[in-house]
Amino acid sequence: MGCCHYYEFTDGHESVFAVDPSAIRFGAGVLAEIGHDAKRLGLRRVALYTDRGVAKLEAVATVVKALRAADVDVAVYDEVHVEPTDISFVAASKFASEGKFDGFISVGGGSVMDTCKAANLYSTYPADFMTYVNAPIGEARPVPGPLKPHIACPTTSGTGSECTGIAVFDLLAMKSKTGIAHRALRPTLSLIDPTVTYTLPANVVAASGFDVLSHALESYTAMPYTQRAMPARPDLRPMSQGANPFSDIGCVEALRRTGRYLVRAVADAADYEARDSMMLAATLAGIAFGNSGVHIPHGMSYSVAGLVRDFRPAGYPQEEPICPHGMSVIVNSPSAFRFTASACPERHLEGAAYLGADVRDVKPQEAGEVLAAHLISMMRQTGMPNGISGVGYSERDIPALAKGAIAQERLLKNSPIPVQEQDLQELYRGGFSYW
Ligand SMILES: [Fe+2]
Repeated sequence: MGCCHYYEFTDGHESVFAVDPSAIRFGAGVLAEIGHDAKRLGLRRVALYTDRGVAKLEAVATVVKALRAADVDVAVYDEVHVEPTDISFVAASKFASEGKFDGFISVGGGSVMDTCKAANLYSTYPADFMTYVNAPIGEARPVPGPLKPHIACPTTSGTGSECTGIAVFDLLAMKSKTGIAHRALRPTLSLIDPTVTYTLPANVVAASGFDVLSHALESYTAMPYTQRAMPARPDLRPMSQGANPFSDIGCVEALRRTGRYLVRAVADAADYEARDSMMLAATLAGIAFGNSGVHIPHGMSYSVAGLVRDFRPAGYPQEEPICPHGMSVIVNSPSAFRFTASACPERHLEGAAYLGADVRDVKPQEAGEVLAAHLISMMRQTGMPNGISGVGYSERDIPALAKGAIAQERLLKNSPIPVQEQDLQELYRGGFSYW
């Protein structure tokens, strides 16, 4: 199945794509090997970041034991906030600055890995908090140089944060999410043990699995890298460089695996084939979008998560309202892909086919609808919220949601078609409820 005209070279536009590979080791038992890696990287005293829930799991005990057996001094920081904030990033960075560490370990989901990236950054190159935060919200200053070694050990099959240079957080004053994005934030090494997902609650597997799915679909349908203006210097080439032939490889395989295994992985914790496969899909999608970028569904997700009022889904901490990242993304995805399909119908149709939809006899103008219908069917089979109304939003919240989304410039400019605030309002309306 081809999309042969997707990468068309034209004067003044990009002709080069870059691949920043992620060093990974994947498989059952790999966490016990971390002492070897810490020694190889010359680490003698490390900060281990996790959250209170994950801290009780065997994964953390395994990592601490392996590090200590290799004579590495370990200080555990278990106060990572699930869905981190600027305040929690600053607290985690303070711990890093005071501890005089020579390396960082993260054991947890996206929140933990992102917090560890921020702590590494602000303790290595101290600066005012907004210095490195994405424009237009922050100054988006580049990271001045290499960070200290960071070994990431993901415990959810979702964010792919172990393969990206992105750290996302809630900016509390704005009630929206934003992030810090730079190649230097990419972990030095990721140790990925799929067996750690066997104890995850079904709702966590579902939400994180839809994050994987949307990473792959957004990356696959992103603006082609050949449509970006040629940069004046190689170092000005953005990390989110648009869809490209390398990221396509990871997207296609991640979509195939997600289509085949996501519903199974949610339905049955003992379906190890499905849970293992979702972990590999998360990694593949992470490598892919880490080199291409996501677009509208993620851009819209940040205000869906940031403005949440009283949503408390099962399987997540209940102390405060939360819209888990994957849920905040997937509630937008069907509506967003209906909108973007006209830009590249073949890619949307291929995406639907990789996920398992029957696309025989489907006309290009029906691509968005067929893809949306397939996503909605998967959402219903896995107990996802019914659009943004399922997360507690009403019609009158739409202007505020769109206002938050339009600030996500880094993501929206990766869309295959231009998107304005008015369009975003329509897209939230289209994603209000799906069934
Ligand atoms: Fe994501």
